[in-house]
Amino acid sequence: MSHAIKLHEITKSYDGFTAVERFSLEVARGTVFGLLGPNGAGKTTLIKILTTLMRPTLGDAFVEGHSVLTAGKEVRRLIGVVPQENNLDRYLTARENLTLHARLHGMRPASYNPRIDELLEMTGLASRGNDFPDTFSGGMQRRLVVARALVHEPRVLFLDEPTTGLDPQSRRALWDYIRGLRHKMTVFLTTHYMDEADALCDRIMIMDHGECLADGTAAQLKDAYSRAHTYQVEFKRDAERYEGVLAGLSFVKGVEREGAVFQITLADEESIKPLMDHLGGADIRRICLKEPSLEDVFIALTGERVRE
Ligand SMILES: Nc1ncnc2c1ncn2[C@@H]1O[C@H](COP(=O)(O)OP(=O)(O)OP(=O)(O)O)[C@@H](O)[C@H]1O
Ligand SMILES: [Mg+2]
Repeated sequence: MSHAIKLHEITKSYDGFTAVERFSLEVARGTVFGLLGPNGAGKTTLIKILTTLMRPTLGDAFVEGHSVLTAGKEVRRLIGVVPQENNLDRYLTARENLTLHARLHGMRPASYNPRIDELLEMTGLASRGNDFPDTFSGGMQRRLVVARALVHEPRVLFLDEPTTGLDPQSRRALWDYIRGLRHKMTVFLTTHYMDEADALCDRIMIMDHGECLADGTAAQLKDAYSRAHTYQVEFKRDAERYEGVLAGLSFVKGVEREGAVFQITLADEESIKPLMDHLGGADIRRICLKEPSLEDVFIALTGERVRE
């Protein structure tokens, strides 16, 4: 069995509203998997089912081969969870939050104390171990939740928007840490930061309305779904005239202009030659291919409209 995570035809309905329907997925062991999707897509629903916080309406899910329906206890032993909302115990200090978690997982002080020191250090909270979470900033609380998820060295780590509210330094520190986990742990994360998914994930799935829209490596998704043939052209002069010329070309699918700089989207990669022919006499300062981004892919698949 090489899959650390398996969802088998999961359906989840909330009072008649179906959030996900017959959703299936397998995540290979030792990889970092990223689930992206607009607000309400169903990401947290899937994580709650996989982490046994919620039962599916239909279907079953497995973590390291253990069913969330019939072996919840085994599943909980193997996983670490960073939920979307911070859920620290406010009556315990930072260190006590971590210690309680370690003890619940059956760890002994000789093994959890050094581990907690290391995690407090990693998350930049070493000097705040004896303070209560209420005295922390939002980002510091988030870091403590991440530390707690790692105390017992889980085999599968679920991170629901782990870096929301983190400053760039903490975000990068967490990225480095997650990169270091690759091959040792399986990581299942959701994020709204496209650069984060791009930087971390071996595989990315984009979902919306409870369904998978695309699945692959960042490079594969960019190749397949983005407006890959957009060039940026800056004219030295005559920008007005060329705006008219460009608008009349059949192989030009779109033109956006800001001053002398144009974003020209072509129908396909063969169109670059006729474009050059038409711009032959132009005085051009700069021309470059605009690299497609994961955000382009995301918007192309899920639309521009804001969700309710
Ligand atoms: N407890 C609940 N009761 C009723 N509907 C719910 C409940 N939890 C989630 N939903 C609905 O299920 C759908 C999926 O929600 P979910 O929280 O899984 O989305 P998400 O992808 O995590 O979104 P976000 O990016 O905003 O966190 C939404 O339409 C939401 O309104
Ligand atoms: Mg969510």
